[in-house]
Amino acid sequence: MSKVQHYLQFSDFGLADYDYLMARARVLKTKRAAGTLHQTLQGRVLAMIFEKNSTRTRVSFQAGMEQLGGSAMFLTSSDTQLGRGELIEDVAEVMCRMVDIVVIRTFEHSIIERFAAHSRAPVINGLTDDFHPCQVLADIFTYIEHRASIKGKTVAWIGDSNNVCKTWLQAAAIFDFKLRVSSPPGYEITASTENSKHYERVIDPHDAARGSDLIATDVWTSMGFEDETEERTKKFADFQVDRDMMRLAKRDALFMHCLPAHRGEEVAAEVIDGPQSVVWVEAENRLHTQKALVEYLLLGKIKD
Ligand code: CP
Ligand code: NVA
Repeated sequence: MSKVQHYLQFSDFGLADYDYLMARARVLKTKRAAGTLHQTLQGRVLAMIFEKNSTRTRVSFQAGMEQLGGSAMFLTSSDTQLGRGELIEDVAEVMCRMVDIVVIRTFEHSIIERFAAHSRAPVINGLTDDFHPCQVLADIFTYIEHRASIKGKTVAWIGDSNNVCKTWLQAAAIFDFKLRVSSPPGYEITASTENSKHYERVIDPHDAARGSDLIATDVWTSMGFEDETEERTKKFADFQVDRDMMRLAKRDALFMHCLPAHRGEEVAAEVIDGPQSVVWVEAENRLHTQKALVEYLLLGKIKD
């Protein structure tokens, strides 16, 4: 089997790939705003296999694929033979003979790695317990769109050191910015993924926010960890991004949240619905950046 480029982690691409993707997403966003058809993927089929809920990822991939002239199908484990125990490796062998590209949202990261190892079609991580690269791709695009460059900036991540946070950490090394993470004891990034040049653990979330260029957060309880909700609600109580925390950041700091959000838990309504919040454009940018990503994985670098 020839080597296929998958996108399972943010670190699967280097800065040159991201420079291309950011520029390409900008072109695709501009074309869509102008109502210009852009159909480079006619006849191509995307399959989505989702074992967790989704609004943004599902809708943006489906809409994006159809806007590119292709089509998309949505599958869950319960409506395929996966739900009856078919091996993920066998599903990969079959599906890649029928479709051109696959997005998977699942639990353990090893599941998507096993699929990718048996797939001749590129596989995109639509979220695993460990990483959410498509989210941070859109987040970095959104930051650059508002503030030109993220190099040398300070991003404060407040709350759970979850899949999105770990992806931000990979992005920090590639885009050369500092990620300050403030999580309750027991919920920190594990030492093996630390990267001292681009990562700083900060105990007090207010210290993490102070002087930062961007504050980002996410739910206290990610999908798959629902049994821990009660305990997490207590332990994360001091980690809400509220107006006082935003005031400690730079005056032009942005606020991001991958959504879905819980107002009154990880973020106060006054922040997510306030002037520094870019969450709606951040969500919209999932569409443009993922169209660029799918096109890149299938066609490589192209011009018009
Ligand atoms: N941010 C994000 O991935 O949202 P969904 O879970 O709705 O896809
Ligand atoms: N960390 C969250 C992100 C949801 C888009 C989760 O995994 O549930």
